[in-house]
Amino acid sequence: MTYQGVLHRYGHLLDFPPHARIVSLLEGNTPLIRADNLVRHLGGEFELFIKYEGLNPTGSFKDRGMTAAISEALGRGVTKVICASTGNTAASAAAYAARAGMKAIVLIPQGKVAAGKLAGALAYGAQVVQIKGSFDDALAMVVEISNKHPICLVNSVNPYRIEGQKTAAFEICDELGSGPDWLCLPVGNAGNIMSYWAGFKQYHRLKSTGLPHILGVQAAGAAPLVLGRPVEHPETVATAIRIGRPARGEEALQAAEESKGRIIAVTDQEIINMQKMLAELEGIWVEPASAAGLAGLSLEIAAREFNPQGQRIVAVCTGHGLKDPEAIVKGRSAPWVIPPKLDALEEIILG
Ligand code: F0G
Repeated sequence: MTYQGVLHRYGHLLDFPPHARIVSLLEGNTPLIRADNLVRHLGGEFELFIKYEGLNPTGSFKDRGMTAAISEALGRGVTKVICASTGNTAASAAAYAARAGMKAIVLIPQGKVAAGKLAGALAYGAQVVQIKGSFDDALAMVVEISNKHPICLVNSVNPYRIEGQKTAAFEICDELGSGPDWLCLPVGNAGNIMSYWAGFKQYHRLKSTGLPHILGVQAAGAAPLVLGRPVEHPETVATAIRIGRPARGEEALQAAEESKGRIIAVTDQEIINMQKMLAELEGIWVEPASAAGLAGLSLEIAAREFNPQGQRIVAVCTGHGLKDPEAIVKGRSAPWVIPPKLDALEEIILG
């Protein structure tokens, strides 16, 4: 049977109203890629899989929840949707709204959104508004405005976003035949970690698939859940998770605690090192935030906080590297420039 998207495949397992009219870009069904080279590098005998969510239609995991939120909204006649975003939610909302014939309005922190995300939101025809402030300021504004006007909020405070996002956990269990021992992933506004945990718990109840421990990873400059307090001025190279007041923070802490996992922080340098390592060792290029989960895993292994031997670990890589090309180009020297002469080429490639 041809694949028709996450709602078609898993809708019967989601708390999803009958009035919904499905809007799909055939999101989900993303690959779980073995990362043996990286395992050798990290040292140890364990299984590591990358759940490559950057291969969703708009290049990030957000499409799973967005198909659900937009489908529900369309079914009750919504014509306008709004979200605050560090970029990926904006692009996803814009694409699904376009397909549903709705207007999308996206609020983003000025100058802090990676080029591929802003371009996406514009390409899909959203009204893009830059806020001279943070993601957290923008989120507070869209919550207020959606209470005041008939505009549907599609941030992860919308429960259908969480429902749709659970499908990633279902896919992992279906593919592995059980839950992994550990799941590591980046944490920003915390909808994703909450959804994975809800999805794993549901599958465990239904199919006894086992429950993973969850390792949530924040950037050190934007780590409210590690510090135990909001961060007024979050800062990190991983702009996707540059968030100081996560809307689903309580649920994230609960997921970490219930799963006997934890939430930790990694530095920007650790994130960038892991992004490079994953691309150069495995051919998987993800945006900086998406490398945070693996950076956290690597840190835990190096610090002997965690013994990976014999474990089956899934790392969620949330967004494609193409979303943020500058993050790569910035730190490197420009490529060679030579005259169109064979000897000049020989000189640089043969040493
Ligand atoms: N990774 C990427 C690439 C993201 O874009 C985000 C969040 C996260 C991880 C964290 O997920 O918020 O569910 O904890 N991006 C949101 C956005 C905030 O606006 O695109 P989370």
